[in-house]
Amino acid sequence: MLNKQDISDRILVQEHFAKEHLPLDMTADQVADYKARIKQLLKEKDACLVAHYYTEGILQELADETGGCVSDSLEMARFGANHEASTLIVAGVRFMGETAKILSPEKRILMPTLEATCSLDIGCPIDEFSAFCDAHPDHEVVVYANTSAAVKARADWVVTSSIALQVAEHLAEQGKKIIWAPDKHLGSYVQQQTGVEMLMWDGACIVHEEFKAKGILDLKQVYPDAAVLVHPESPASVVEIADAVGSTTQIIKAAQTLPNKRFIVATDRAIFYKMQQAAPGKEFLEAPTGGNSATCRSCAHCPWMAMNGLENVLNALENGTDEIFVSDQLIDQARRPLQRMLDFSASLNN
Ligand code: 13P
Ligand code: SF4
Repeated sequence: MLNKQDISDRILVQEHFAKEHLPLDMTADQVADYKARIKQLLKEKDACLVAHYYTEGILQELADETGGCVSDSLEMARFGANHEASTLIVAGVRFMGETAKILSPEKRILMPTLEATCSLDIGCPIDEFSAFCDAHPDHEVVVYANTSAAVKARADWVVTSSIALQVAEHLAEQGKKIIWAPDKHLGSYVQQQTGVEMLMWDGACIVHEEFKAKGILDLKQVYPDAAVLVHPESPASVVEIADAVGSTTQIIKAAQTLPNKRFIVATDRAIFYKMQQAAPGKEFLEAPTGGNSATCRSCAHCPWMAMNGLENVLNALENGTDEIFVSDQLIDQARRPLQRMLDFSASLNN
């Protein structure tokens, strides 16, 4: 059961990520100095900052203040492809930078660090995945955006969590059987919601896999009025107790539209920065992970997203380091399933 200390820790976490959003290891003057230099360089280098909701608040603030974008992975791809800047600084994880390069090969794509990867991408190596697909040639291959360029190149469709259900429904209507990779939790959710016949890859997100239904139910006893918001990379037992399930953008919208004043949020806590802006006056609590005695590998914050910061954004802009390169052949092959997703998404909005 949660004790008072757990609860006040949660409130402090929420306040830091939602309001102060300053790096803990910098003074306000240092932050202001970094921000000014980055803003100047973005102009000089014809660059635009595209940041994911899981990056620290200060980067989200910078992207907003400089005409860049803060969003989920689908909108990052769309925004970057449509923006006229010749350089994109992609603050997020590597697959997001690669997606930007595949959709805009003429642009220079820089990342704060190329070391920022994703457990889903690591867990789906191209050789094994390709052999799996070859063994089931009668299946349509659907891969999550959180994969390498090579895995995307092997796919018929790329999806992100904001469009996964619609794509699966579309394929189910056509009587297609699908291979789903790499996230087994998102895959189970999609299968359960759409009834599509699915062969599943055994991958998981180390952040979302840590959320525990028991901990969330304990917290709900303390805050019975709180609604539970869950990203579908979480285990089925957590998805089952959710009041809203969806991509990062979809759960921010749920925080705005649900009448509740308080929310327990099962996704990366850096999202609190945007949630608080979208739903001012509401309170957000981090969903419990492994419990007090467990060894938490992520503790509701993606270790790779956390590698993005003011210093390495500045370094990338000053020195052109950490550039994304993808071969022409892979760009050609991976672009088709990615563009298919974007075209499908556009058709839904028309
Ligand atoms: P979104 O597509 O919802 O932005 O999620 C990306 C991701 O990596 C979630 O862990
Ligand atoms: Fe990958 Fe999970 Fe990090 Fe998202 S939160 S980038 S899925 S490891």
